[in-house]
Amino acid sequence: MQDDDKRLAAEAAVAEIRDGMRVGIGTGTTVAFAIAAIGRRRREWPSATFFSTSQDTTKITRAAGVPIARFADQAELDLAIDGVDEIDPQLRAIKGGGGAMLREKIIASAARRMVAIADGTKRVPALGRAPVPVEILPFARAFVAARTSALGASPALRMTETETAYRTDQGNLILDCRFDAIADPGKLAVALQAIPGALGHGLFLTEIDAAYIAQDGIVTKMER
Ligand code: A5P
Repeated sequence: MQDDDKRLAAEAAVAEIRDGMRVGIGTGTTVAFAIAAIGRRRREWPSATFFSTSQDTTKITRAAGVPIARFADQAELDLAIDGVDEIDPQLRAIKGGGGAMLREKIIASAARRMVAIADGTKRVPALGRAPVPVEILPFARAFVAARTSALGASPALRMTETETAYRTDQGNLILDCRFDAIADPGKLAVALQAIPGALGHGLFLTEIDAAYIAQDGIVTKMER
């Protein structure tokens, strides 16, 4: 059921792709449905170019028969499609459950239009149910942890299933910062970004232009 909703939201976003567009593809289980749809429909857009936010996405997109181009040469994209860990009624989100939020935010910011896709379980009245992931330079681990604690977080180093520290595609670490409540997400985003050694965080407060959220088989489109 939840997977059906993920698929419906993903397919609604893929319907926004037009030939010639430069499209950024996010990361995660909801995006995997978008990639499958792109793979099925790719011949409709012979001149579209696709860019990836993670090694995982690159792998599954290529496996679906869709080439991935190098983002480093791009200053701007037309569209980005990505999942969220939670999203509030103002289209503010927490992302990074899959650890790719640094590249995801770059792609989302580069895109003239960023579309979030989610099943209904991701809706929240206010941000803070999920921890805010912060990508950190390994050199600065304890320092950044102390600075996030001073902001009210309970930071936890993200681990893998084999109990080793999780590494991002860039080779960095992630601190999952749980807050009792996020009273002012804008202020928190600025404070996190200002910590030396914190390379990026999962608060997406301004990037999302629209969202397709599916619940019980019904897709709702929200525009900022
Ligand atoms: C990846 O780093 C994340 O930002 C994902 O977009 C987010 O965690 C949503 O993933 P799912 O679609 O798997 O829930």
